[in-house]
Amino acid sequence: MISFLFVTDLDNTLVGDDRAMAELNRQLGDHRQQHGTKIVYSTGRSRTSYRRLTSEKSLLEPDYLITAVGTEIYNATSDIPSSDWSKTLSKNWDRDLVVASTSHFADLTPQPETEQRPFKVSYYLTEEAAAAVIPQLETLLRDRGLDVQIIYSGGKDLDVLPRHANKGMAMTFLREHLGIEPTQTVACGDSGNDLSMFENGSERGIIVGNAMPELLDWHYANPNPNRYLAQSHCADGILEGLKYFEFL
Ligand code: GLC
Ligand code: MG
Repeated sequence: MISFLFVTDLDNTLVGDDRAMAELNRQLGDHRQQHGTKIVYSTGRSRTSYRRLTSEKSLLEPDYLITAVGTEIYNATSDIPSSDWSKTLSKNWDRDLVVASTSHFADLTPQPETEQRPFKVSYYLTEEAAAAVIPQLETLLRDRGLDVQIIYSGGKDLDVLPRHANKGMAMTFLREHLGIEPTQTVACGDSGNDLSMFENGSERGIIVGNAMPELLDWHYANPNPNRYLAQSHCADGILEGLKYFEFL
């Protein structure tokens, strides 16, 4: 067995079935101790909201924490996000103009203040409204010269981020920083904001069995042998995938 870079989403991927998560934690914790495997959480949550989750659930302490949909990267021992990453994201990012532009859309309901981050503007948007609103929003932001991307997740959350910020790009940044091969890297997820972690193609990917349609539709439309769709849900699905790729 050799070490690998384990990157997982939290809500409805690692977290969702306490019994399964306890078993996965045991196996991953042992692997980290014996082989130096790195454990990384990559969540849409802010760090404040992540802290709330850690008070409710028994999570392993990660080696790195990626929050706010890939826009902030923390070393486990630091309260300050990577400034190299922030610098990359600041280029061409005009947060005030994003907020001024999105305010034209009555269907967009702002998320709580804790989830509004320096490189992330977040709203709630119903699935019924999404099909019409997202293309209009994309056009408006582009016409205003904003170099951004829109990510819709879980059939309810809409995030506007800098063009070069998402969970996939944050994973690549960290992987290169650590000098780990793509083939020794595995990402796990269940919803729209995880899709970018499965896009590169050479990292291994595990989609849990309870994944959302927005991710499943893309998965079926873009087949890749390095990506595994588990039958089991949440942490059981992760375990199934780690065994499939022979990481465990
Ligand atoms: C988390 C965040 C929220 C974001 C969503 C999808 O729930 O708290 O702000 O919109 O993930 O990325
Ligand atoms: Mg999730």
